[in-house]
Amino acid sequence: MISGSTCSLRITGRTDGQNVTTEDTESTEELSASATINGKEVFDLLRDDLAALEGEFGQDTVSGVRAITEIGEYLRAGGGKRIRPALLFLSSKLFHYQGQGAVRLGAVVEIIHTAALVHDDIIDEAKTRRGRPAANTYWGNSKCVLAGDWLYMQAFKVAVQGRNFRILDTLIELTQQMVEGELLQMEKLGQVIAIEEYFDLIYRKTACLFSVCMRLGAILGGATAAQEEALAQYGRDLGMAFQIVDDVLDLTASEDVLGKPVASDLREGKLTMAVIHALERCTAEERAKIETILRERAFNGVTHAQIMEILQRCGSLEAATARAARYAESARKAIRTFPDSEIKRALLWAPEFVVAREK
Ligand code: IPE
Ligand code: IPE
Ligand code: MG
Ligand code: MG
Repeated sequence: MISGSTCSLRITGRTDGQNVTTEDTESTEELSASATINGKEVFDLLRDDLAALEGEFGQDTVSGVRAITEIGEYLRAGGGKRIRPALLFLSSKLFHYQGQGAVRLGAVVEIIHTAALVHDDIIDEAKTRRGRPAANTYWGNSKCVLAGDWLYMQAFKVAVQGRNFRILDTLIELTQQMVEGELLQMEKLGQVIAIEEYFDLIYRKTACLFSVCMRLGAILGGATAAQEEALAQYGRDLGMAFQIVDDVLDLTASEDVLGKPVASDLREGKLTMAVIHALERCTAEERAKIETILRERAFNGVTHAQIMEILQRCGSLEAATARAARYAESARKAIRTFPDSEIKRALLWAPEFVVAREK
């Protein structure tokens, strides 16, 4: 759950709450109020909603079939940062939305995220998730495929309660994008992909959901079309930054912090931004080393340390981190036309959290 207190964003500039036109090219720092908000304050803003979300998620994942309830509860109790519902809450709060829909849709997006992870861990043959055995290691692939299917349908069953076709359309389009993303990624496993393909994949598998969370909050809040697009853009850019950072962490973090083995992406035959960057700059010999890991899906003759040396020499980790920071900045810019408020400051803080996070 979002609870970081180490990560705070200083926001300086306008205090008058006036809208800023989209033509403005000033940096975000010059745009909004002189104020800071940190992770704890953001969490405090969302405390009640996040607590209600846990209740809704728990209720939504009860089935007459015991295995489904058990898997659902295992997944819910495993934690997770809850960043997607948090974004949806913030987006709806920007418009002072007070209805029940936000918690309901917060559970919907978290359940969709959970279903995607259950299926993803089967596809990736992952053993660990969030520092615990992945659900497939307890219940096996077959039951987890079905539990994932059930969770997707349950998410739609909950969403349909709102009787809003635009929201349903948005969620259907999203789920298809995510599944297409997983499928495209699968087809590219073991292959060298271009950076544009990488960006397309991470949009589909991650950024699209972030964008939808922001859009759903805006729809609930009765946003104008322009406001909705600005928030969707914010979510998209934030999601791109999130996945690039996730992919860097896969290479640089420790298993203890990450809750899953390091360098899983390479071992799964998956190319991410830093490695794509290095492949464009390294020697033929270094390229051969990277390609061997991708092909064999294992660090046989080549060590993780050797790969890190190549990435360091090419400045690839810095390049990926810098790209994530640019997306984060772009997310902040996307919401510059909103007047200053505590919620806006929380939204300006989130990109900082995403880029600075350690897991
Ligand atoms: C994991 O997402 C899947 C990716 C998109 C990288 P999170 O890092 O948000 O997962 P949890 O929910 O916090 O475990
Ligand atoms: C995460 O993809 C799954 C989805 C976004 C659907 P990855 O396979 O890249 O992420 P982790 O490393 O398992 O969390
Ligand atoms: Mg995976
Ligand atoms: Mg995967």
